[in-house]
Amino acid sequence: MAECQGDGEGAKSPMELYEKLTAQGEQVRALKTAKATKADVDAAVQLLIKLKTDYKQMTGQDYKAGCPPSENSVAPDNGPAAGGADDEDTVDPWNVSTNNAKGVDYDKLILRFGSSKVDKELVDRIEKVSGQKPHRFLRRGIFFSHRDMHQVLDAYEKQKSFYLYTGRGPSSEAMHVGHLIPFIFTKWLQDVFDIPLVVQLTDDEKYLWKDLSLEDCHRFAVENAKDIIACGFDVNKTFIFSDLDYMGASPEFYRNVVKVQKHVTFNQVKGIFGFTDSDCIGKISFPAIQAAPSFSSSFPQIFKGRKDIQCLIPCAIDQDPYFRMTRDVAPRIGYPKPALLHSTFFPALQGAQTKMSASDANTSIFLTDTPKQIKNKVNKHAFSGGKDTVEEHRKYGGNPDVDVAFMYLTFFLEDDEQLEKIRQDYASGALLTGELKKLLIETLQPMIDQHQQRRKQVTEEEVKQFMTPRPLHFNF
Ligand code: TYM
Repeated sequence: MAECQGDGEGAKSPMELYEKLTAQGEQVRALKTAKATKADVDAAVQLLIKLKTDYKQMTGQDYKAGCPPSENSVAPDNGPAAGGADDEDTVDPWNVSTNNAKGVDYDKLILRFGSSKVDKELVDRIEKVSGQKPHRFLRRGIFFSHRDMHQVLDAYEKQKSFYLYTGRGPSSEAMHVGHLIPFIFTKWLQDVFDIPLVVQLTDDEKYLWKDLSLEDCHRFAVENAKDIIACGFDVNKTFIFSDLDYMGASPEFYRNVVKVQKHVTFNQVKGIFGFTDSDCIGKISFPAIQAAPSFSSSFPQIFKGRKDIQCLIPCAIDQDPYFRMTRDVAPRIGYPKPALLHSTFFPALQGAQTKMSASDANTSIFLTDTPKQIKNKVNKHAFSGGKDTVEEHRKYGGNPDVDVAFMYLTFFLEDDEQLEKIRQDYASGALLTGELKKLLIETLQPMIDQHQQRRKQVTEEEVKQFMTPRPLHFNF
């Protein structure tokens, strides 16, 4: 157990202290059951009391067995320790919700998760190092948070390359527009930095979490790979893999999974992911599988066995719990911590209180939707920040901050000046809700049509090529 538990001293975060307390409680019980000497039991109880006092001091809460501290992170490693949960916003890999019509409070989330803001200095630096105009997702704060991006750029400037890792949980054949966000951005990063990319398709995860067969999950993985390929990735620089295939094909990958499994306790994953005693053991150990691609030695065919290549993970911030865990483990198993770039959520049609999600067809625009479906969904379901009547709207103006059509345009309209003019016109009342929605429909229809055309051209042979473990066109 020495690999998993500390010695009861020097905890740096509420979660670490909570775990030490839980372990100490178990120790006291074990000593009593084994009828240990009074001196041994007393010493263990004294330590338990001291840890409880420390816990109260650190968290302001009393220790309760089975109730981890509300801040759901493992030792925040990049910023101040988070100061308790924000009651309003829920953000984890399964749920995103807030009471605020403008969406999640992302600045608060940065504090809670202990990440860093993507500020102007970082955006300017990315521009300088890459020599390219920053992507609109960076210019507009859509990729708003990061971990260790400066370190990645420092190394890159010294000719030390890095690689990209992102993923998708294939729960159905059709991906929605929100899923495109990390892939569009990853493609840009790959182009401007000229680096390898690995894409994990967690068909195992979807089998464990959903009521789906293994065959369906694997089939969805292959179908989703076509959508990912249609984003324009270069086959010479990209490896896409299904966990169900690659876990069995790569001893190096599995070894890293096992290393992570050995260094994370059940208590930790309970604290991070909210697992309970009745969750199946597949779920409990799954985070190690999402962690493993963060280490270059999981891909010996690409990195020639090197274990020191830095990884950068672009994803929406819902996936951060997996990578907080990964970053906590990495140094303990001799690997660099992966860096991250987090995006905000592409909102549901009904409003920014939740993210666009594949599980509810009416909240989402799918990559398979026809132009007519797109038009109907936007007109019927997109939450409007406009006023009830044209007269009132002309007089008082609309609110772009809560208007879903405007929010969607911030993701997809390339021209900054045009976007700003739309914002001003909508806020002043010069632009009506119907006109704004029309602008969005005219932006989405050709974009999704082009995606569908590119996807149609992706052959089975090409998918096979992307999904075959092989060297890429890089020299490591
Ligand atoms: P999944 O399939 O839920 O989501 C795939 C990617 O899309 C992001 N995403 C969104 N981004 C913006 N707006 C939204 N409404 C939205 N919904 C989803 C997710 O953050 C993710 O980046 N367990 C993962 C699969 C995975 C993965 C990874 C993701 C495995 N390894 C590494 C990112 C990075 C999952 O089920 O993603």
